[in-house]
Amino acid sequence: MSTDLNAINQAIFPSTAARNAEGELEIGGVAATALASDYGTPLFVFDEREFRARAKNTVTALRSEFQRIGADAKVYYSSKAFLCVEVARWAIEEGLHIDVASGGELAVVLAAGIDPKLIAMQGNNKSRAELREAIEIGIGSIVIDSAHEIERLSEEAAKLGKTVRVFLRVNSGVHATTHSFLATAHEDQKFGVPLTQAAELIERIRSDANMDLRGVHCHIGSQIHAVDGFVESAARMTELVAELSKTGPVPELNLGGGFGIAYNEAEVESAPNIFELAKQLADTVAVACERAGIPVPLLSFEPGRSIAAPAGVTLYAVGNIKTVDLTVSDKAADPADLGYTERRYISIDGGMSDNLRPAFYNATYTARLANRTSSAPPALSRVVGKHCETGDIVLHRALLQSDISEGDLLAFAATGAYGWVLASNYNYVPRPAVVAVRDGESRLIVRGETIKDLVARSVY
Ligand code: LLP
Repeated sequence: MSTDLNAINQAIFPSTAARNAEGELEIGGVAATALASDYGTPLFVFDEREFRARAKNTVTALRSEFQRIGADAKVYYSSKAFLCVEVARWAIEEGLHIDVASGGELAVVLAAGIDPKLIAMQGNNKSRAELREAIEIGIGSIVIDSAHEIERLSEEAAKLGKTVRVFLRVNSGVHATTHSFLATAHEDQKFGVPLTQAAELIERIRSDANMDLRGVHCHIGSQIHAVDGFVESAARMTELVAELSKTGPVPELNLGGGFGIAYNEAEVESAPNIFELAKQLADTVAVACERAGIPVPLLSFEPGRSIAAPAGVTLYAVGNIKTVDLTVSDKAADPADLGYTERRYISIDGGMSDNLRPAFYNATYTARLANRTSSAPPALSRVVGKHCETGDIVLHRALLQSDISEGDLLAFAATGAYGWVLASNYNYVPRPAVVAVRDGESRLIVRGETIKDLVARSVY
């Protein structure tokens, strides 16, 4: 683990991130200072090459491993992780399909000119209007999330006189090792149907003239590092495919996404490697199919975070600094703070409105001084946002250089997934712009909101 506070670890930052001769952080060959002055802060910066390489590697790893066992694999980019028109195009150009979780995501993907056949729609409560639109455009598939949805979808398809390709989302019963809000395949949560009901519901779908059963789907959760959860779920779902195959074809098995990434140095070792994960999954599915005496179905996956997160960096400008005397004010301090006499509160110009993850999931990010290096001694620091909320913390506890001050730029790594898409306008703070960087060039891919945009929504 590096103790150099100026070091840029490319296992956390994009692989093009580095210090230039002036000591500034560069991403995609563009200096953070130039990005901040051209586009303002806070700013989401996407490294196009990193995103594309991760997308491509995911396809290559999974396809080659499943081809090795005589089948094939398909990768959907899970667009909820991050989506805009430009990024949807990157995913498709790298050979992925795309999954959407709402009519809004669908509209962005369609605006990118993507063939509807490459799109899958998910969600536990798709509206009838969303279902109708999906059927009308001839969407690739709809993932049915409940018994109730079989009826709703069937009614809408019948009204339109169309047949719709469907999957059934089944809970494999594997409780993934992750934050409880991010685990999705156990029973007492809102997504999917229990394994025990799958056979009966599949029969209902098969006997419905408006539905064409393409397969079964599961997703055990998100930001998962322990590979055994994926492996166990793959084994159980393959057994389910075998059972369901006795009464009719099950051409495709979708095992979802959820591949974890490293947000900080402590997570680098355990973050799954897509090539190793693909190998283990293919071996597991091959063994289970052989045991059941069925051919290996087409496998599909839908990662979001592992493609988008490491490609994104957020730049913030530092504003106020306040130092709290821990010997007086914080007697019940975290034991990790013992030995420190003070904590610096470094306020940045964004916060929980552009990165909810630390407050919501206790996520720990990596922050680096981006406009310069510094050899000042480390100080116990907390990076906080500008919102009227004590929990508006983007980095709870870190040792950062003690000379960080107003006007400095801080770069937060791995913010490309579930950052901008979870952004809010709390305190009427405009949502930031997104720029893409590549080979020394930058370009705006999502315009930032202005205060004028926000005021204009009041009706008066
Ligand atoms: N498939 C389904 C059905 C999903 O629900 C999700 C994520 C994915 C695929 C993609 O998972 P990924 O590969 O990105 O882990 N806001 C949370 C994450 C929510 C995940 C929602 N579903 C966070 O910031 O950690």
